[in-house]
Amino acid sequence: MADYMVYWLVLILVATSMCTTEAAATTYNVITFGAKPDGQTDASQPFLKAWASACRSVQQSKIYAPKGRYLLKQVTFTGPCRNQIKVQIDGTLVAPDDYRVIGNSNYWILFILINNISIIGGTLDAKGAGFWACRRSGKNCPVGANSITFNRANDVVISGLTSINSQLMHLVINSCNNVMVRNVGIVAPDLSPNTDGIHVQYSTGVTITGSSIKTGDDCISIGPGTRNLWMEKIQCGPGHGVSIGSLGRDYNEAGVQNLTLTDSVFSGSDNGLRVKTWARPSNGFVRDIHYRNILMKNVHNPIIIDQNYCPSNQGCPHQGSGIKISSISYENIQGTSTTEVAMIFDCSPINPCTDISLRDIKISLVNSGTKAKSYCKNIGGRTSGVILPDNCL
Ligand SMILES: *[C@@H]1O[C@H](CO)[C@@H](O)[C@H](O)[C@H]1NC(C)=O
Ligand SMILES: *[C@@H]1O[C@H](CO)[C@@H](O)[C@H](O)[C@H]1NC(C)=O
Repeated sequence: MADYMVYWLVLILVATSMCTTEAAATTYNVITFGAKPDGQTDASQPFLKAWASACRSVQQSKIYAPKGRYLLKQVTFTGPCRNQIKVQIDGTLVAPDDYRVIGNSNYWILFILINNISIIGGTLDAKGAGFWACRRSGKNCPVGANSITFNRANDVVISGLTSINSQLMHLVINSCNNVMVRNVGIVAPDLSPNTDGIHVQYSTGVTITGSSIKTGDDCISIGPGTRNLWMEKIQCGPGHGVSIGSLGRDYNEAGVQNLTLTDSVFSGSDNGLRVKTWARPSNGFVRDIHYRNILMKNVHNPIIIDQNYCPSNQGCPHQGSGIKISSISYENIQGTSTTEVAMIFDCSPINPCTDISLRDIKISLVNSGTKAKSYCKNIGGRTSGVILPDNCL
């Protein structure tokens, strides 16, 4: 080989290795932006500055929060950014002790208009107890904050996040596409009001897997405009179950379509598999829902469709829901109910449920010699395999 060829070869190798180094993510450590991991010093500005740098970066970048406690007030992380951002949190983000500081804005931590972001690890402690106490006392309280919200974000991964004691909902996914939520842990007391675990609405292609949710409201709540939602390996309870709804409060409402919940366990929850709609006119719908391989342990209402939601019997002029429910399958649902009527299908008189299928259902009444019962109203469908309680379809 001629000398000049060796020379060019070396040059190419050096150039290639430089490119590789450049492609590696730049790390923005919040400590270098002035954050103090003492749980006392306001770290909002350091986090926002780290975000601004990462968001400007042409290369992939990483925001890193080492172990420790970081006090955060309301923070909004806005995109679009120029490349992928990974946020790795080894520490805990804590809200101020005074619940009014975050409680006035509906959001504690908000990500908006971002494509391609991962949140890895981290614990969020919103210290919601003061806010719940305010609401219980019937005083004038602020609106309250959801702990972490993604608005209009695409290609999102949330992995290994823990959230405790949110004022309102823990994790909200609104108007997003392609979101993976895995191995998250959510905890709030049984009686904490409206502390839903994960709320999804107006979003397509959300997956929630391997997550444990113990809370005071729905473990997962599903709002209008949710499509292609996959949920598996969910542990729910205490809490109000996995709920589609409440839907149909408004006349014009986007439908809910193509949801699967599989390989999940409900323990001591108020509901298991619930669909709930207002008894009001609406053009919304719920269709193509699949529940499979579900274990119920002492669940209050293991299977329930309630189309007659009308708190205080107000604002429901025709007492019939316009939400059209069709094509829901329940397959291999087993375990125990704490109420006698373990399966309730209370569908709309003006808009009956159609194409409901039951296969291999074995739910018994806990600690009792009597059999569980089922209730059907305005419903059509089919059954196969073992159906306990006796089917009313
Ligand atoms: C996210 O960004 C990474 C790094 O730039 C890229 O490889 C990946 O394709 C992006 N993902 C999506 C869904 O755009
Ligand atoms: C239904 O949702 C799943 C993801 O949960 C997706 O893979 C599938 O393509 C969707 N089906 C249709 C018909 O859109």
